[in-house]
Amino acid sequence: MERIVVLYGGVSEEREISQKTGLAIADALTSKGYEVHLLDTADAHWVTSLIDIAPDAVFVALHGRFGEDGKVQGVLESLQIPYTGSGVRGSVISMDKLLSKYFFQSVGFHVPAYVTYTSRFSSKDIEVAGLQYPIVVKPRYGGSTIGLHIVENPDDLVRAIEDVLSMGDIPVVEEFIKGRELTLGAYKNSRGEVILLPLIEIVYGAEIFDYETKYTAGAAKHLIPAPVPDSIYRELNEKIPVLFETMSLEGVVRFDFMLSEDDILYVLEVNTIPGMTSVSLVPDAARHMGLSFEDLVEEVLKTARYGKA
Ligand SMILES: Nc1ncnc2c1ncn2[C@@H]1O[C@H](COP(=O)(O)OP(=O)(O)OP(=O)(O)O)[C@@H](O)[C@H]1O
Ligand SMILES: [Mg+2]
Repeated sequence: MERIVVLYGGVSEEREISQKTGLAIADALTSKGYEVHLLDTADAHWVTSLIDIAPDAVFVALHGRFGEDGKVQGVLESLQIPYTGSGVRGSVISMDKLLSKYFFQSVGFHVPAYVTYTSRFSSKDIEVAGLQYPIVVKPRYGGSTIGLHIVENPDDLVRAIEDVLSMGDIPVVEEFIKGRELTLGAYKNSRGEVILLPLIEIVYGAEIFDYETKYTAGAAKHLIPAPVPDSIYRELNEKIPVLFETMSLEGVVRFDFMLSEDDILYVLEVNTIPGMTSVSLVPDAARHMGLSFEDLVEEVLKTARYGKA
């Protein structure tokens, strides 16, 4: 593999983060001696440009809609160009914060209790399902905490739901887990082994790990490895490789968790294309186990292929 295209930017709300992730990945690959071309998928001609460049592989550095959701992966499958990360199936499942709960639960993880939203939803459904306020309302297909609300009463619940619908998304309605925020990067190497990076506890002042806190250097502290009971590490070592298999995950991913005050681990979501900016979580965790950003990026690149699930 010599000539690499890095797909970045794109049309989602997370465009700006993807630009940073893409540039960081391009720099890493250039320093490793690859011929790197950056292509922004916001440009309608990106597919023609991609065919013209005829790369040996594509590194997908897109976040969110049309990039992390399986659509770009479908284009790359059609063109038969090897690409990094999960295929269409793994991307579709992971992008959906409702559907992915099924997979988390099926390997024995806890998830926050939830009510499935449909157009018939009423705030009474909360009581019927036995959920207590505060309630979290967030976009089913969104990311970067955009459109996430924590509500204390039925009136605010209705307003939060309307807000998510006005973004063109579908609300996920779930219980608020009070506790500590944890995140785990993991990747599948070229031998098919799932490698867990050190677990991170994220410590910050804001009520939730919001957009501002996520992308401002120094706004959040990373405790690596996270000071949590051994039982949590055992649970992760046992269940994460199984999740890679059942969810058809490939490349490097990041799982977000809440650890409740009574030490129950709840999975919030999995990101199939985690942020790789200078303040991002996954590169920080890798560094702590002696894996440089450049080596991690190259490791992921080596797993690029097409014909994925
Ligand atoms: N059920 C919950 N209980 C408590 N806090 C929550 C809950 N859901 C979300 N949060 C808070 O909101 C943040 C963002 O939520 P989540 O990870 O589900 O969505 P996201 O917007 O896709 O995030 P990302 O930027 O990682 O893609 C979490 O990191 C956490 O701080
Ligand atoms: Mg998250």
